[in-house]
Amino acid sequence: MSLFTKVDELRSEFKQALASSPALSDLEQIRQQYLGRKGVLNDLFKQIKDVEPSRKGEFGNLVNQLKQEIQDGVDTLSSKMVKGTEASSGLDVSLPGVHYQRGSLHPIEQTMRDMKRIFHRLGFAVAEGPEIETQWHNFDALNFPPEHPARDMQDTFFLNNGSVLRTHTSPVQIRLMLAEQPPIRSIMPGRVYRNEAIDAGHYCLFHQIEGLYVDENVTLGELKATLELFCREYFGADVKLRFRPSFFPFTEPSNEVDVTCFLCRGKGCRVCKQTGWLEIGGCGMVDPNVFRSVNYDSEKYTGYAFGMGVERIAMLKYGINDIRLFFENDVRFLKQF
Ligand code: PHE
Repeated sequence: MSLFTKVDELRSEFKQALASSPALSDLEQIRQQYLGRKGVLNDLFKQIKDVEPSRKGEFGNLVNQLKQEIQDGVDTLSSKMVKGTEASSGLDVSLPGVHYQRGSLHPIEQTMRDMKRIFHRLGFAVAEGPEIETQWHNFDALNFPPEHPARDMQDTFFLNNGSVLRTHTSPVQIRLMLAEQPPIRSIMPGRVYRNEAIDAGHYCLFHQIEGLYVDENVTLGELKATLELFCREYFGADVKLRFRPSFFPFTEPSNEVDVTCFLCRGKGCRVCKQTGWLEIGGCGMVDPNVFRSVNYDSEKYTGYAFGMGVERIAMLKYGINDIRLFFENDVRFLKQF
């Protein structure tokens, strides 16, 4: 048989082998058998010396062509088979990857952590207390007279047993002072509840961070310096602070705390209602009557307290115009933080 016929024969053998639907491992064997170092095609190449000189080139071309056909045949079939396996197992390695949504902290939690971190550096510990309070802790011990309007059904959620949902974090001051002797330097973060008409600026629950510092010779100047430092850290180095006289039953004197609007830097804009100032909380020197209700010596100790609304601070910082967004938990809102 001539070597030329041999080439044709090998081709049809190979085609048959491919047509016999080999397994993937068989296919690899076929590749070795034809194209391997000791394979059939290399044998053929070696026999080129037996071809008559004038047809050596023609023979070489034929064998090369067959080699290419075998290569292509094996490649095509094997890639088809791999894809088939993927399809039948539901696997498609060419699909784009699945993106997992990463969760993040709620903006109120983030704001509280940022605030806590600053007070931590100023030497404040963290204290917590119950959200269901006695009226004594929430009002009486804080020097609210029995007829004070804040006890009114309008503001306070009363429980059937006479307890209340705390309307501020100040009762934690009372619990802390009952439990520990001065010096006390602590912040008290937590949820508070008020029975208010709900609108863009008011919600029936929100968060406060309260601060209390009690020792000998604590002054109003220290209070102002501490809040100033906090505001500079939180809102920016160029922010200014303003105390406005106010009233709280548990502090005397009492102040409302304003910072310069960081949007317009005091010039006046929509956010600060053209005043250049934004209110962030209340503060004052602890009223001696409060010390009396926790059996502290009001002649020996003085102290300051402050309270800030966390939602309000977050709204100012992030330019959020509706407090309800914090409680609806719409992912499109939360995703932005
Ligand atoms: N407890 C006050 C309030 O909720 C805020 C406050 C705290 C004011 C501490 C003065 C000192 O309105």
